[in-house]
Amino acid sequence: MTSHPEPNSEQARMSEYDIIKAASEFIDQYFQHVHRMGSDAHEKRLAEVREMIEKTGTYSLTAPELNFGAKTAWRNSSRCVGRIQWSKLQVFDCRRVGNVKGMFDAICKHLQYATNKGNIRCAITIFPGRTAKNRDFRVWNSQLIGYAGYRQPDGSVIGDPKNVEFTKLCQQMGWSGNGGKFDLLPLVLQAKGLDPEYFEFPQHLALEVQLSHPKFDWFADLGLKWFALPSASSMMLEIGGLQFPACPFSYWYVGNDIGAKIICDPLRYTMLETIANKMGLDTDKESSLWRDFALLETNIAVLNSFEQNNVTITDHHTIAKSFLEHLESEYKTRGGCPADWAWIVPSLSNNITPVYQQEMINYQLKPNFMHQDDIVQSYKWKGKKTNRGYLGDGDALSKRYKATILYASEGGKGERYGRTICELYKHAFDTKLVSMEKYDVSEIEDEELLIIIASTFGNGQPPFSGEGFFQHLEDMVLLNSNVAETKESKRLTQSCEKYISLQKEQNSKPNGSRMSIETSSSNAGILGNIRYAVFGIGCSVYPLYCAFASAMDVLFHQLGGERLVAMATGDDMSGQEEAFQEWAANVFKTSCEEFCLNDGMNLDLAIANVLGTGEDVLFPERFRVSVATEQRETDICEAIEHLHGKKVYPCGFISRLNLQSESSTRQTILIQLDTQGAPELEYEPGDHVVVYPTNERTVVQRVLRRLDYVRSPDVVCRVETGKKSEKARLGNVKVWTPVSHLPLCSVRRAIEKYLDITTPPTPEFLRMLAAHATSPKDRERLLLLGKGGVDYDDWVFESQSNLGEVLESFPSLRVPSSFLLTHLPLLKPRYYTVSSSSKMYPNQIHLTVAVVKYRTRGGRGATHNGVCSSWLNQISQNDIVPLYIKKSNAFRLPEDVSKPIVMVGPGCGIAPFRGFWQQRQVDLQFSGTSRSERRRLGIGDMILVFGCRQSEEDYLYEPEIAEAKEDGTISNIFTAFSREPDQPKKHVQDMMKDNSRQMYRAIYRNDGHLYVCGDIIMANQVRQTIQWIVSHHGDMSEEKADEYISDMVDSGRYHEDIFGITLNVTSVLEKIRSEKRRARVLVLGDTPSPRRQQVSPRRSMTRTTSSPSLHMQDLRAKFTSSSPSPPLEGGVHKLRRRITATVLLEDGHDDDASDPEADQVDGTSSSPLSASHIRAPRGGFFGDSDSYTRAPYRSPSPSRGLYRSPSPSRDRGYYPDLRGRRSTAEGAKLIR
Ligand SMILES: Cc1cc2nc3c(=O)[nH]c(=O)nc-3n(C[C@H](O)[C@H](O)[C@H](O)COP(=O)(O)OP(=O)(O)OC[C@H]3O[C@@H](n4cnc5c(N)ncnc54)[C@H](O)[C@@H]3O)c2cc1C
Ligand SMILES: NC(=O)c1ccc[n+]([C@@H]2O[C@H](COP(=O)([O-])OP(=O)(O)OC[C@H]3O[C@@H](n4cnc5c(N)ncnc54)[C@H](OP(=O)(O)O)[C@@H]3O)[C@@H](O)[C@H]2O)c1
Ligand SMILES: Cc1cc2nc3c(=O)[nH]c(=O)nc-3n(C[C@H](O)[C@H](O)[C@H](O)COP(=O)(O)O)c2cc1C
Repeated sequence: MTSHPEPNSEQARMSEYDIIKAASEFIDQYFQHVHRMGSDAHEKRLAEVREMIEKTGTYSLTAPELNFGAKTAWRNSSRCVGRIQWSKLQVFDCRRVGNVKGMFDAICKHLQYATNKGNIRCAITIFPGRTAKNRDFRVWNSQLIGYAGYRQPDGSVIGDPKNVEFTKLCQQMGWSGNGGKFDLLPLVLQAKGLDPEYFEFPQHLALEVQLSHPKFDWFADLGLKWFALPSASSMMLEIGGLQFPACPFSYWYVGNDIGAKIICDPLRYTMLETIANKMGLDTDKESSLWRDFALLETNIAVLNSFEQNNVTITDHHTIAKSFLEHLESEYKTRGGCPADWAWIVPSLSNNITPVYQQEMINYQLKPNFMHQDDIVQSYKWKGKKTNRGYLGDGDALSKRYKATILYASEGGKGERYGRTICELYKHAFDTKLVSMEKYDVSEIEDEELLIIIASTFGNGQPPFSGEGFFQHLEDMVLLNSNVAETKESKRLTQSCEKYISLQKEQNSKPNGSRMSIETSSSNAGILGNIRYAVFGIGCSVYPLYCAFASAMDVLFHQLGGERLVAMATGDDMSGQEEAFQEWAANVFKTSCEEFCLNDGMNLDLAIANVLGTGEDVLFPERFRVSVATEQRETDICEAIEHLHGKKVYPCGFISRLNLQSESSTRQTILIQLDTQGAPELEYEPGDHVVVYPTNERTVVQRVLRRLDYVRSPDVVCRVETGKKSEKARLGNVKVWTPVSHLPLCSVRRAIEKYLDITTPPTPEFLRMLAAHATSPKDRERLLLLGKGGVDYDDWVFESQSNLGEVLESFPSLRVPSSFLLTHLPLLKPRYYTVSSSSKMYPNQIHLTVAVVKYRTRGGRGATHNGVCSSWLNQISQNDIVPLYIKKSNAFRLPEDVSKPIVMVGPGCGIAPFRGFWQQRQVDLQFSGTSRSERRRLGIGDMILVFGCRQSEEDYLYEPEIAEAKEDGTISNIFTAFSREPDQPKKHVQDMMKDNSRQMYRAIYRNDGHLYVCGDIIMANQVRQTIQWIVSHHGDMSEEKADEYISDMVDSGRYHEDIFGITLNVTSVLEKIRSEKRRARVLVLGDTPSPRRQQVSPRRSMTRTTSSPSLHMQDLRAKFTSSSPSPPLEGGVHKLRRRITATVLLEDGHDDDASDPEADQVDGTSSSPLSASHIRAPRGGFFGDSDSYTRAPYRSPSPSRGLYRSPSPSRDRGYYPDLRGRRSTAEGAKLIR
């Protein structure tokens, strides 16, 4: 966001050169910080800023620049001892606020956010910058919260003497205090240079702590108290030559700021002698050190009271220690850190704090906070002083916290969950939903709350839409940690494998209190002020379950982000919907708590409405289908581009060949497509083709038969949404506007080409369908399935019902076509691995496609045909195939042709290897080259390991393979026949084991590359086989061999192209399902023991904030939904182990929340940072809480202002006298 530039008279007085210089320096700093120095974006921004200044005399900062500038200003504040927190500063950009009411509302939000019920957070609110001198925004209070000081006729003061002048002003403005010792002063606010207005301080926003002493009961009777949130509201923020005179900044107290500098200070509350007398000290004699004793006990009372009340505070020793840590880290990362010794060393016990002996250099860096004149004294009133502000309720701003829902999804589930959570967050936040692919990463630091929904693809890789984002975060971590590591290998593999164990490790750590986290500089990453939560969706059949979500969770943590709740996962195999709903409700509630938005908002109602967990049926919005005036439907490629945001190109059909024998009951086809010379469709072997299919005619017909439509399904129509218009003269009239995302087409075309009618409907969709059921029985059943629980899982697994079947099995459904057109998910594209070389077949793309056909209900039910493979199996010359090419970074022939390659691909997994051998044939023009000739040329072996059922039935490409062997392209072929009559069953991994010596030589000895393509379980077994081969022949332990394989992955020598679960789908799924079901029965069948009821709430991943104990329902959710389940093989064994562990746990064995095994079992592992367990932070801030306000108050002399000119030398010669005294440093211990 860029605010509008306005002329700046002050800056106009600065030479254009100076302002451009200041701006350019800052813009450079910013781009350096985001690691984009010298990039096009950097150059463009510099030019833009220069142009703005030349035109208007000033410029404006983007939101991320402001954010960075404010944090850096704090980082550069040489007098602040609490800077270790600088990156965690919450910046509220209020530059668009236009009046005092807006300022008041923003300050209320600031107070609420920063106070956070005592768990104090650092925050700054930035109001519009200086434009013309007399149009400033200012907060007249020196601190947002302060107590009045009433001067009495005898000269004494009731209340805080510091505020006597300000109190008088407030009274002149019409405010009347109660005349007490602790009356909250009103907020006096000024906008646009107009006379200020005062606003009664909202009492509920000032958290106050009554002071008591752990040993002296009488201390409480003194009636002392202090407020929890220190703030500085009179300083000015300067960023890149721009000035922000109103920028209240709040932090938390260091104990002696209150004890020594307020309660006992002779110019403030003057309680020292009273306390000494109460303690029975001898106040007649200085040498009794009564002052010191009383001071110390007062400080103890302050620390104790705050801690007892769970309000953040720190002591001067801890903050001094954390400052040294910060100093060290700053020297490492920035080569220095400006520090003003006199202000950093605490006034109490100064020489026994670690900062005392530390050499410091004081100099001034920009951006920074600057001192400004005391406006109370200098302001010339335009009108009468009486000026009471109109009281705001703060509601208007309740939605100003940004929440970004980021999703990475391949199949669309992540997007759907993202949309749901977005709806939920809209109740309280300013929410947007973005795909990772479309997310502008340069804005990430400006985020406040990120909710991440991520599926996993490949073998533990990000979905394609998450690749760039993943890479960016990894780069940020590397650059941030200054790790001299090449990123190229990561770029190639994109494997998230390592993050699974890192994520578990982090989860298994005990709940860190905020204190320990926030005083450590290692956590002060550049995303320090982002709160985040991750929901992973995946499938436990895959060995690297939810790996990408784990990567997101770990990377954000490494960059300093703060987890709102522990990562949760939803498993395709069981209870995904339930897991999502539980997590969504939990994370939403926690977010509202974190941002203090839970007062007066019915969160449960919002949750029930959005997640459909309430009893009410969700009624779809009102839509209608009307006949379009236009007769022509939108072109298909255009429509797809519009719907999916991807540019697709039409390919023509050339030919199709069934690669299986005629006697086979299955089909695998070679499809040849014509790219029509489109340069965008150029590819290399290993790339993927993304095809947008058409639904099967019979299924379309079944759906159309049950629909209402206008006239005929073939009429071109438009879908419109209706809203009531209250302005209409004839009363409430509906206004219909077209639904913009849908292309102009007939109902038939939409259902045939754009919408998904074969994936079993989601629970949400079933709930909405229920609203269209006319029979109570159908409605009830649909609502039950719509809950997304076990019944839904079983129903989907058993029936795999497509939409046609659903409509038929609920005969009372009356579904308008408008509902389907607006609520069905989009028909997703399918990936195919290119199966040709464009060098051999220019302008052609070949695909090897296994035609999917199966019967539901374990072979007893209806026959289902795969959408895309079946469509490709019947297209003809008249059809076009809309597609695009998805480049593969990893699955490429090695650049070094001398490296041997082993290609493993059973069934249609052979697809990419045909491209490989064709490419080699062309590249090396091998025809006729003998093996010895090839050796002489230094060309590595090409070994093919192929598997099929029978040599006579499905040996795909047998003649081509023989030819490639013949011409020397392929050096060896190992074929595994699994169902060859009278022969033992062999799979590809068996052939690798049988020929292990050769495999070892090629891969280990000669640094070869391994390529595996096809089914995930096969790929996992191949990996285990390779591990065995390396361990066996290399005489190394399994662990070492595993490390070797991981190195292969990291160095880009182990390549996988995973299609998903494609082999023996039914039996694999059945196996996993029955294991899951058994686990559930074991858990549910067990009688709840008292011990189980006592399971710590900390163990529940998604119930960390509210449930005091877990009940059966919770347990079921835990074990059926959110458990990250194991891979199949040795997954099945691991799964068994897990089940045993589950039973043991529930039988009442060790219930210790720190038990790592138990954490692994329920997958809910102690939530290290769940909001309810976050303790008040330690560490702290300004050595003197009043430091920004005190200096001008005490020391009006400009030479003693807040900041002194930069001095690169050690700054111990002269200490600014904070008490109006002056002392020389040498030998003198600073008296404060
Ligand atoms: C990166 C990548 C590359 C790929 N490359 C190729 C390739 O080169 N060649 C190739 O043939 N495929 C390839 N695939 C798979 C391809 O994308 C499609 O998934 C496949 O063709 C099936 O799509 P479809 O539309 O025909 O079937 P769909 O309509 O999508 O139906 C498939 C679904 O049906 C269900 N199903 C299938 N069999 C059964 C069963 N026996 N019992 C119960 N349910 C079942 C499963 O839920 C399955 O997901 C690749 C996939 C990926 C991710
Ligand atoms: N997305 C999808 O759903 C999808 C995509 C593509 C294909 N398909 C379907 O899947 C089927 C697969 O076609 P396909 O040609 O690729 O393969 P396939 O012909 O079913 O199998 C190829 C070979 O792989 C073997 N195999 C099975 N499990 C293995 C394992 N774990 N490790 C190693 N080898 C294993 C098979 O042996 P066995 O005799 O032991 O099975 C067979 O010898 C097709 O019939 C198609 O319907 C589905
Ligand atoms: C080709 C392919 C590879 C997959 N790889 C993994 C994996 O490594 N780990 C995992 O947990 N899930 C994996 N999955 C499962 C998906 O993550 C899961 O189906 C998820 O629900 C998809 O969500 P989406 O529709 O948002 O992409 C894979 C699915 C496919 C099709």
